[in-house]
Formats: sequence, C-alpha cells, structure tokens
Amino acid sequence: MLAPESARFEAVVARFAGHAHRAGFGLYIGPMFEDAAVFRRGVGEESEVVAKEMYEFEDKGGRVLALRPEGTASAVRAFIQHRPPVPWKAWYVTPAFRYEAPQAGRYRQHHQLGVEALGTEDPDVDVEVIALLSSFLGSVGVSRVELRVNSMGDADCMPAYREALAAYLAAHDSELCDEHRERWRRNPLRVLDCKRDECVAVRAGAPRITDYLCELCRLHFARVLEGLDALGIAWRRDDWLVRGLDYYTRTTFEFSALALDSAQNGVGGGGRYDGLVEVLGGPPTPGVGFGSGIERILLACEAEGALADVELGVDVFVVDLLGGAAARDLTHELRQAGIAADRAFDGRSLKAQLKVADRSGARLACIVGPEEEASGKVTLRVLRGPDAHHQESVARDELVARIESARS
Ligand code: HAM
Repeated sequence: MLAPESARFEAVVARFAGHAHRAGFGLYIGPMFEDAAVFRRGVGEESEVVAKEMYEFEDKGGRVLALRPEGTASAVRAFIQHRPPVPWKAWYVTPAFRYEAPQAGRYRQHHQLGVEALGTEDPDVDVEVIALLSSFLGSVGVSRVELRVNSMGDADCMPAYREALAAYLAAHDSELCDEHRERWRRNPLRVLDCKRDECVAVRAGAPRITDYLCELCRLHFARVLEGLDALGIAWRRDDWLVRGLDYYTRTTFEFSALALDSAQNGVGGGGRYDGLVEVLGGPPTPGVGFGSGIERILLACEAEGALADVELGVDVFVVDLLGGAAARDLTHELRQAGIAADRAFDGRSLKAQLKVADRSGARLACIVGPEEEASGKVTLRVLRGPDAHHQESVARDELVARIESARS
C-alpha cells in the first residue's frame, strides 16, 4: 500500500491510538512470531486459524515458530513474561497472517488494531472495550454497523451446554456439512459458526447457550447489556456468536459493517477469555479485548464515502529557478518551523517543477527566481482552492509567519 492510499491507513491508526490513550490503554509492541505452541494452546488446535491457516516454520535452531495469526495469545504470553500491574490495559497495531483464500476483505497478511484488558472480571470493562471500538468506528466514518453480542458462559456452565449440543448434533450428524460431520465431536461449538446451509439449518433447532448460563454468568451478561444501553450503544443478541477462536468465555461481540458484502463484513470482534492466561502457564487472570481489521475498515470507509478528504500532501512546495540552493535552505527552514515542505530536484524547468508541485498536494508554491533573490523576497502562489493562481510577494524573513497565517 503506497501513498496517497496509505494516508488513510495512517489516519485510521492515529485515530485508534487517540481513542485507546483516552481510555487509559498503553501501547504494547510484541514480536511478529512466537513459539507455535502459544497459538496451538492459546487459540486452540481445533480452531480454523490454527488447524488450517497458521504459517508455521522451523528456524535454524530447530524451534517451531508461527507468524502471529492474531494478537491476543501473544499479548497474554507477554503479560505472563512481564507481569505488569493489573488491570493491564494494552493496545496494539500488528500485521496478522492467515493462510486463507485471498479475496476482497480477506488477506493472507492483514493488519489488526486491538486492545486487551487483563486482570479484572468487571463487566464494566467489557462495556468499556465495546464502547471504545464503537466510538472509534464512528470516528473514522464507519457509521452503518450492527453490533451482535452473546455470552458463552464459563467453566461452570459451558460443559453442560457442550454436552447438550453434542447430544443434539449426534442425532443430526448426517445432516451436517461435509466438514463438520463427525468432526463436530472434537469441538461441537464450531458447527455454530459454520456458514454452510446444512449446518445453518441444523443449528436452528439446537440448544441455545442462553438457557444454560449459570447465575453468575447471567448477572455478568445482564450488567454488560445494561452498560451498553446506558452508553446508547445499540446491540442485538445472537445466541450463535461463539467466534472462531477457542479461548472465549462469557461475553463475545462482533461489529459488522452493513455497507460491505456479508461474507467479509466483520470490522471488529472480541470478547472475554478468562481462562487463557492459565492455559498459557500464568496465574488465574481474567481478560477481555477485541481485534479490528484495518483493511476492512478502509473498505467500509470507501463504501460509506468516509475519510475521502484525508491527504498527506505537504503545505508548501518550493520552486527554485536558481539551481537548487534556495530550495535546499528554504525547505529546511520551513520544516524546522513545523511546516511540511517539499521541492523538486535535478534543476528541473519551471514548468516541470510546477507539475511536481501540483502532484505534491501542496496548497502553496513558494517561488524563488532571480528577481526574488535580488529583492530579498519570495513569491507565494496559491495552487488550489478558491484563491488558486493568486500570488503575492513576501519578504524572506516574513515567510514562515505568512504561511502559518495562510494555513489557519
Ligand atoms: P478475529 O475475529 O479473528 O479475532 O479477527 C479480528 C478482526 O480482524 C476481524 O473482525 C476482521 O476485521 C479482521 N480480520 C481477520 N482475518 C482477516 C483477514 N484474513 N483479512 C482481513 N481482515 C481480517 C481475533 O483475532 C481476536 N484476537 C480478537 C480478540 C482480541 N479477542 C479478544 N481480544
């Protein structure tokens, strides 16, 4: 992704950083690859991400490593290694690698923005991370979204549900899709997020997790929903939202962009994973977070006509007809003063320099020729906007102030 398109990527990351900082999350930077066991154990052997999509390789020391397919398991691994004080509230931006069939909105390397909050079970944290994702999406202009929420119960109530679901699937085995027939025995929940018609039809009559939640999980979920209502965040309950990664407990959620094709319209999802720290060898520590795909956000922005005005052009383009020394000195001076400035190189003609100036996105050209040099002045020309072509002569030592006032 090159400029100018990458300016929108940059803007999305910057806005996310702003939202994360304002909610008390600090940046966490982790390695792009880990011991493959971090994901095998953390995300789960039976998840598609690990079973089919993980990039694994052996390094020169014979270690089996994996390119990070998602951010949560490695953030938890870092938490166990560093033991920061809790609640540990971390945000990240990372490439993620999944061997999927590439298509619009689905890539073998995509980029995720995410947060993880470790060390508290408080349902208000679930609300806080959902609210963060909701306001971030709104701030970049992804406004037509649907939020689905569910609770997956905990170690107390989930086993009974799994058993009930397994009994139901055993009775409907022959009706399941080719992939899930028999295979559901390894993890019956995977049938619930299968998109194939056969599994969707079987699912309609399956037991629902809602009817199996224990009292504590029920209260926890009720408080999350109450919080979303209090903050004015619209949600829809979806009993089948189990998400594709095996670590989830209690709250799960997903935002879909309604402007995108439904197969790839998940612009962010996450949930609780109260058992994951222990699974990876740390002390019992609850956690909740989400990941949001930058490429999908950009697609949704495009579909909604958002972020169209994000340009990373410079403010001023210096056109030098004297051989380049003036451009060298002026661009440096302007940059030192906090003004974005660029120039052409190789002693190009006035016409060629103006062409590059136009492409640079600059609103102003600062022209220095023999006349300007003799009078100690420069010519400022407006390149775009309502005053385009207007030009004025400005004393060299008033240039910075003049550009600053033209910018504001
Ligand atoms: P995930 O739903 O697998 O969750 O991915 C998070 C987001 O990444 C998706 O909502 C989607 O926007 C984007 N995404 C996933 N795969 C691709 C792909 N192949 N191409 C483009 N975008 C993609 C997780 O990864 C969890 N770690 C989220 C989480 C954090 N749960 C708790 N904390």
